[in-house]
Amino acid sequence: MKKYLVTGGAGFIGRNFISYLFKKYDRAVKVINLDKLTYAGNPDNMLEFKDRPEFEFVKGDICDAALVEKIMPGIDIVVNFAAESHVDRSIGSPDDFIKTDIFGAFVLLEAARKNNVEKFIQISTDEVYGSIIKGSFKETDTLEPSSPYSASKAGADRLAYSYFVTFQLPVIITRCSNNFGPFQYPEKLISLFVTNAIENKTLPIYGKGENVRDWIYVLDHCDAIDFLIQAGENGQIYNIGGGNERTNLEITDLILETLNKPAGLKKYVGDRPGHDFRYSVDTEKLRRLGWTPKHEFTEAMEETIEWYNQNSWWWKKIKSGDFLKYYKQQYQTEL
Ligand code: NAD
Ligand code: DAU
Repeated sequence: MKKYLVTGGAGFIGRNFISYLFKKYDRAVKVINLDKLTYAGNPDNMLEFKDRPEFEFVKGDICDAALVEKIMPGIDIVVNFAAESHVDRSIGSPDDFIKTDIFGAFVLLEAARKNNVEKFIQISTDEVYGSIIKGSFKETDTLEPSSPYSASKAGADRLAYSYFVTFQLPVIITRCSNNFGPFQYPEKLISLFVTNAIENKTLPIYGKGENVRDWIYVLDHCDAIDFLIQAGENGQIYNIGGGNERTNLEITDLILETLNKPAGLKKYVGDRPGHDFRYSVDTEKLRRLGWTPKHEFTEAMEETIEWYNQNSWWWKKIKSGDFLKYYKQQYQTEL
């Protein structure tokens, strides 16, 4: 019986990871989810597993050392997803990114060190490398993060590594590309555009829409993390990617075609300041260990779009109140 501390498990990837763990290991795992329930944390995301005896939810902040030290004894595996995760918000108000993404990671690392945890997975991101025009970044490449978000994540990434070198804490760092799938807060490209298109609202494309991201289905990301907990080497960094590079315009057209909506919904808006042109990671190191993504991109996109179609109760609740204020400020228009 392994006991996991998952942080940020009321958010998009964290909740999918907990769901993945229970589906795969059923009663052989215990999971504590420590989540502050920021705007991105959602109790609805835990409905599927909240009543399981193997699950416990603790509402709290990873920056709260007293709380983290209370939870950590007996934990075998820490998976740190908790973060402020949206680049646009990091441009408007970076404070919480610095606090949660860096200081919060430090608090978790300290408590993990004192309690001799078996494994500490720091969920970093491909954004720490910065943009690349041609080719793909290897784990050994220099970090050149360009937004307050990616710079904060780079800080936590390197801090986690320092705990391996200095204290021999069994840390593994993952740098994954852009995720898509169910339960993604509808401020990110795919979740925002799908839900806007369903409601016949415009899709705000930054700049010319030529920026490129490598998309991975969220359950493939979860599967790769689980694989690395079993097979990864301590102190190592692993890139994770789907191998599905698309321009934002290609993603937009795919969403409109799948939903049978008119091209007239596309609306070109001002560009994101410091907008990274392309992310691309070389995943050879992970593939050599024996892992590959299991979901085909177009099929996973169709399933994802269908999920948002079937679960408007979930995103309509979110796209009200504060979200409308955020949208107006971000896009200079009413939703
Ligand atoms: P998300 O914004 O959907 O969820 C973040 C969760 O963290 C929320 O539930 C929020 O309440 C919680 N949280 C925030 N601050 C906290 C704090 N101080 N204490 C406790 N909980 C707190 O994010 P996501 O898209 O699920 O991303 C999860 C992780 O994966 C992040 O670390 C992100 O940097 C990383 N990542 C994301 C992607 C992606 O495409 N979404 C890709 C690579 C890496
Ligand atoms: O690469 C991994 C990263 O992917 C994660 O670390 C981040 O947590 C996650 O938010 C994501 O960052 P991006 O900035 O790449 O994702 P986002 O969905 O915000 O934007 C994807 C692309 O779409 C980017 O080029 C900006 C563009 N975009 C985004 C939004 C929200 C638009 O054109 N219009 C929009 O309204």
